[in-house]
Amino acid sequence: MKVLVTGGLGFIGSHTVVELQNEGFDVVIIDDLSNSSIEVLDGISSITGFKPVFEKLDLKEKSSVVSFFEKHKDIVGVIHFAASKAVGESVKEPLKYYENNLNTLIYMLKSVLDLECSNFIFSSSCTVYGQADSMPILEKAPVKAAESPYGNTKQIGEEIITDTCKVAPNFNAIALRYFNPIGAHHSSEIGELPIGVPQNLVPYITQTAAGLRAQLSVFGNDYPTEDGTCIRDYIHVVDLAKAHVIALQRLLEKKNDSNYEVFNIGTGKGSSVLEVIESFERVSGIKLNYAYTARREGDIVSAYADISKSNKVLGWESQLTLDDAMRTAWCWEKTIRKL
Ligand code: UD1
Repeated sequence: MKVLVTGGLGFIGSHTVVELQNEGFDVVIIDDLSNSSIEVLDGISSITGFKPVFEKLDLKEKSSVVSFFEKHKDIVGVIHFAASKAVGESVKEPLKYYENNLNTLIYMLKSVLDLECSNFIFSSSCTVYGQADSMPILEKAPVKAAESPYGNTKQIGEEIITDTCKVAPNFNAIALRYFNPIGAHHSSEIGELPIGVPQNLVPYITQTAAGLRAQLSVFGNDYPTEDGTCIRDYIHVVDLAKAHVIALQRLLEKKNDSNYEVFNIGTGKGSSVLEVIESFERVSGIKLNYAYTARREGDIVSAYADISKSNKVLGWESQLTLDDAMRTAWCWEKTIRKL
């Protein structure tokens, strides 16, 4: 069964390709290489033994999308990761984000609707909840006004899919709302490759330990939490990748309850910034150089998932721990830095 993974050379995309191949799917990747590297293909094939079909294609070019699907009418499902994802950049360049994340989604959907097997998995984010009123966050929690154009593209993306599902009964979609994906494949063949100075906590930690950064700034220790630092739900990228395979199988086996479903993908457990640092120090044996600084603008205090729906309805649950994620993230950092 042929599956299209857009953005399949990115962090979550590449791990999902591996899990799809492990389950016997025939994977075709589209990626424009704007935020990924062609070498990731080798990483994937050294894990699975199969090099997926790859097309370098810009999904903003509608005619390219149309001609791609002309050649691949036998696709049974699309997992759509391709999108820009830097929150800060999205504030500076909103139109780039609306164009990259929404035009491409619309072109994809138009083509997917014409497929005989019209199944679609959308990368959404816990960012749609903003600072939720209560924890853990249920899927039915209200969607709050987006804090950034990036967050807005995820909200609008979900709305576009919802409206499409209303008028296309043969179209089936699942949106997965990821909490904070971290870690790397245990083989250290693939992992996260942030361009420039990392904005996210875990790559900043591993780059500091590797000597690329002098010190980690912990943004704020005066939050109303037990140790004063923010709480997030850190999910191992391999567990997250497996959620995509299970969601796709649910659509292929027609087990979905409606033609549009939404699931939280997290561990259900909140960890503070200090707990993440402690986990890193435990698994690496390294004392991390960090200091408290001012709060980062736009940060919410706490976000962790209610995972009862993804456990009971989707039949997925996370298997790997925070320590597993920190260990594999560190092994990956050492591999790419040749340490
Ligand atoms: C960020 C994005 C979110 C995206 C998610 C994907 C923002 C505002 N939000 O979430 O939209 O879906 O990444 O992974 O960027 N921290 C430090 N020092 C650092 C970096 C981070 O203390 O150098 C802290 C932050 O204050 C936060 C926690 O670590 O409390 C996690 O930060 P980060 O990894 O950037 O993720 P989010 O902000 O949760």
